[in-house]
Amino acid sequence: MPTETVYGLAADAANARAVAAVYAAKGRPSFNPLIAHVSDLAMARRIARFDARAEALAAAFWPGPLTLVLPAADTAAVCDLARAGLDTVAVRAPGHPLAHALIAALGGPVVAPSANRSGRPSPTTYADAMEETGEAAAAALDGGPCQIGLESTVVGLLDEARLLRPGAVTRAQIEAVIGPLAEAEDDAKRSPGRLARHYAPNAPVRLEVTQAAPGEAWLSFGPSGTGPWNLSPGGDLAEAAANLFAYLRAADRTGPTGIAVAPIPSDGLGEAINDRLRRAAGFVG
Ligand code: TXA
Ligand code: MG
Repeated sequence: MPTETVYGLAADAANARAVAAVYAAKGRPSFNPLIAHVSDLAMARRIARFDARAEALAAAFWPGPLTLVLPAADTAAVCDLARAGLDTVAVRAPGHPLAHALIAALGGPVVAPSANRSGRPSPTTYADAMEETGEAAAAALDGGPCQIGLESTVVGLLDEARLLRPGAVTRAQIEAVIGPLAEAEDDAKRSPGRLARHYAPNAPVRLEVTQAAPGEAWLSFGPSGTGPWNLSPGGDLAEAAANLFAYLRAADRTGPTGIAVAPIPSDGLGEAINDRLRRAAGFVG
């Protein structure tokens, strides 16, 4: 299933057998819960308990790249396996017309983890998605290249509002709606997407590099950047986000001794880009 962020491997959220097949195709640990994708706010309210903060964020950013972790309301609509046994549920309304049409046609929530095999970079094109987990899918929708290229932002609203995964909606955009975000707890179970060594290509990744070593592939950034993989010659973070996973894959395919990545500013979307890069390099616990 294409979305505006990355391609997802989709299944009926209520169907535990289908959800089990998704975990198996990804090689994903079953303690890492999935996002329930909904067609609209009404469907979201059937499966999760919305408070005023959740209402405000949904009004501001849906449909779009924001996932809310909320208390589960209907535990059958998103099965136990999809929630990894938690009494909470992650929910988002994707902004892609094909995703919307698929979920509306099913009439219930669709779980869709990124369509990569576990630990690998998320697919941002139809071809990359097919290469990762296409064999496991009964059907596949080609929605073209993903517009954003980076996963949704995950915000927990169980007690204090917490940024569980930086993503396409920036911290500043969220804080403008609901006020300051608390830091995510150091509890991997809360959002296992924060595990170290995630989003990783085969070649080792080296960060904040100003000159690549011989044999290394070079992901550059900005007007002074060189080579075939300049994430954004104009220094635009949205363009860099859209190119990130596709360039990591393209560089990796050349069989380099490593992948060296130029420094990327950490403001705005740069927070999420640097988060993914640190995990691709295996740095973050
Ligand atoms: O942009 C996206 O969000 C993409 C597209 C396909 O929609 N999907 C995606 O799914 O990135 P996935 O499964 O790769 O990442 C889901 C993230 C993980 O970090 C997971 O741990 C977290 O959401 N998550 C899901 N349910 C949760 C819950 N109940 N509590 C805390 N974190 C949760
Ligand atoms: Mg993922």
